[in-house]
Amino acid sequence: MNETIALEVLRYNPDTDREPHFQRYAVPYRDEWVVLDALTHIKDQLDATLCFRWSCHMAVCGSCGVMINGEPKLGCHAFLRDYRNGVVRVEPLDHFPIERDLVIVMDDFMAKLSSVEPYLLVDAAKPLGEGEHLQTPAELNLFKQYAQCINCLLCYAACPQYGLNEGFVGPAALALAHRYNLDSRDTGKDRRAEVVASNEGVWECSFVGACSAVCPKGVDPAAAIQQTKVSASLDWFKAFLLPGGRK
Ligand code: SF4
Ligand code: FES
Repeated sequence: MNETIALEVLRYNPDTDREPHFQRYAVPYRDEWVVLDALTHIKDQLDATLCFRWSCHMAVCGSCGVMINGEPKLGCHAFLRDYRNGVVRVEPLDHFPIERDLVIVMDDFMAKLSSVEPYLLVDAAKPLGEGEHLQTPAELNLFKQYAQCINCLLCYAACPQYGLNEGFVGPAALALAHRYNLDSRDTGKDRRAEVVASNEGVWECSFVGACSAVCPKGVDPAAAIQQTKVSASLDWFKAFLLPGGRK
């Protein structure tokens, strides 16, 4: 019961630190604890100055993403038992500026997310009195997996292209744009294309696929991006061959 596990946590307070540095803590080992439990123990019992984000503790809110031994993970979804034989190194998500300790600055992602308008765009809304906007199970299945995104940003931390070019719109925002483009109730595909099909949209992706490999919700942003490339190419050919033919 007295067994402990070592956590090396990256610390950085921009008000007092010149550089980020690691701090080591000995935390009680529990089979059922996840890394988020260990961080909470540190904050409650050892060092109240440690900063990290979390909310749900059940892989739903998307706020607890961190690098654990170099891999992007949800802190609430990574069990200590999987790291039992060594030190657990916890760092903020790669490719984002550090706000403080494990908290990253998310402004860039929020701007990109809003740039793709990830909500239903409808040219002519049906009057309420005409009833629901019905959708068949097949129509729902076209986009359902992309709707599972929790904006945890693990895919951005895993994406080498985003690491090289922070102008890249990136996996989750492009997958969410695709989610709405595929929705039978939506008519905003052309509007989103200005961002999605731009040089820093889908064409910046070199199809490494790391985004899909790390996603904790089974979303496949790499597939969304490749499907969008095909769709954008077809739209371009239609517009090229049939003036006025692009819908
Ligand atoms: S696509 Fe997956 S990894 Fe990326 S933000 Fe959404 S849930 Fe997280
Ligand atoms: S705390 Fe909500 S996803 Fe981990």
